[in-house]
Amino acid sequence: MDFLTVPLVLFSIGLLCTLLLTSNSRARKSPKLPPGPYPLPIIGNILQLGSKPHQSLAKLSRIYGPVMSLKLGSITTVVVSSPEAAKIILQKHDVAFSSRPILSAAESLNHNEFSMVFLPVENQWRKLRKICKEQMFSVPRLDASQDLRREKLQKLREYVKACSETGRAVDIGEAAFTTSLNLMSEMFFSMEFAQFNSVSPMKDVVWGVLGCIGSPNFADYFPILKPADLQGILRQTTIYFGKLLDTFDGIIEERSKSRCGKDDVVGTLIELSQRDDAELNRNDIKHLLVDLLLAGTDTTSGTVEWAMTELMRQPDKMSRVRDEIRSLIGEKGQVEESDIARLPYLQAVVKETLRLHPVAPFLLPHKAISDVEINGYMVPKDTQILVNIWASGRDPCIWPNADSFIPERFLDHNVQIDFRGTNFELIPFGAGRRICPGLPLAHRVVHLMIATLVHNFGWELDIELEKMDMNEKFGFTVQKAIPLRAIPKKL
Ligand code: HEM
Repeated sequence: MDFLTVPLVLFSIGLLCTLLLTSNSRARKSPKLPPGPYPLPIIGNILQLGSKPHQSLAKLSRIYGPVMSLKLGSITTVVVSSPEAAKIILQKHDVAFSSRPILSAAESLNHNEFSMVFLPVENQWRKLRKICKEQMFSVPRLDASQDLRREKLQKLREYVKACSETGRAVDIGEAAFTTSLNLMSEMFFSMEFAQFNSVSPMKDVVWGVLGCIGSPNFADYFPILKPADLQGILRQTTIYFGKLLDTFDGIIEERSKSRCGKDDVVGTLIELSQRDDAELNRNDIKHLLVDLLLAGTDTTSGTVEWAMTELMRQPDKMSRVRDEIRSLIGEKGQVEESDIARLPYLQAVVKETLRLHPVAPFLLPHKAISDVEINGYMVPKDTQILVNIWASGRDPCIWPNADSFIPERFLDHNVQIDFRGTNFELIPFGAGRRICPGLPLAHRVVHLMIATLVHNFGWELDIELEKMDMNEKFGFTVQKAIPLRAIPKKL
């Protein structure tokens, strides 16, 4: 080693140390992804999702915390499982997290390019939301379509009465689904799409699309596989979507020609599309109505089925709902929308159902449109965000006896908790910009349907109560795995 080598080596070591130190301190300063289970190569944490991802991820969040990261195939995903973390996502950084990942099935017939559910928060999405708010779900619009809901609930009551007379069991989810589908089709097109307890093409199509969208699809975890459509989900969805869009197109065509003055949603939308300053065209109308029909039917009926399931498990609570209704309107008659505000126990039953059984346990997935730092962690652009409201709904630190159905918890006047997006411990409809636009309609329909089923009927299970299955089936929404069937008894 000559005399020059020693300082050169020392210099090199020094330089290396300096570089290492600076790069280390840089690494320490730049925030990391939130903690989470170690991902396997290629598949990441997919296997940890299991068949009920909301439950599996709730368990994992007890280990890794309320802001947790995972790799689902190639998709970086952040799961938030506390009201505080949900508030950060949906309120503090509402804009940054307002986008949606596009489900592969939603790309069928380019639906995602026109769909309010999947469009980014830009002009077209704003226009569609405004139309929904002003033309469909405002208080005056909903008040104006009350008669139509009254008529559909009357049909539900007649169907249940007929079953009570013959001792036939009612599939409550099916009856609620038929009612909400008809409510929607009547509101949109002035026509009924389905019959109780019988096959109907539209019912099959709606079930079909929901089934496709709700099936786990590899292409959503590995977008590179999208074109291959290995499970045939895109192909199948395209068939169902095609039928829906064609049917709606036919109705629009006929209505545009006939210029009949029916006061329904499609009439209003056609009129809007024919103005000089038209903000939407025929294609937009079709896709909007498809979205609303799909988003509004089994969410509503699933909630009613869960509520009835819980009330049947605790007949004293069902009696309390009935007594409250009867003391307000008597034994005859029908609960009106204006009565809901005066039925606090019924309202508490609905809140408790939405807490324990949110049909959209992750809301709809959100997506980051930029890098965002949360609680000292980095959530990179394009990360998928799942807000696990099922986990916070069952958190014993927030809800005493969290796993029990206790509507009374919402009767305490000192604790006014609402589900309209301001109390982050109860956000079954989401919060912020992407909050469910159909909330005002769902609020009326869910209360009215439960009231109709309970007011004049007692219910007996066709199995022993202890055998009542409470398992969940995860899909587009979380439904009862085994449908609730019960025999109505006219009171
Ligand atoms: C979005 C729940 C009924 C239309 C949502 C979201 C939830 C939800 C959790 C996602 C919010 C988010 O991502 O932050 C429910 C529940 C319902 C119900 C629990 C019934 C009990 C309805 C009805 C309609 C509807 C009746 C329309 C007729 C929509 C639409 C979206 C949506 C179009 C997407 C909005 C957007 O991305 O901008 N709903 N919903 N929903 N809901 Fe509902």
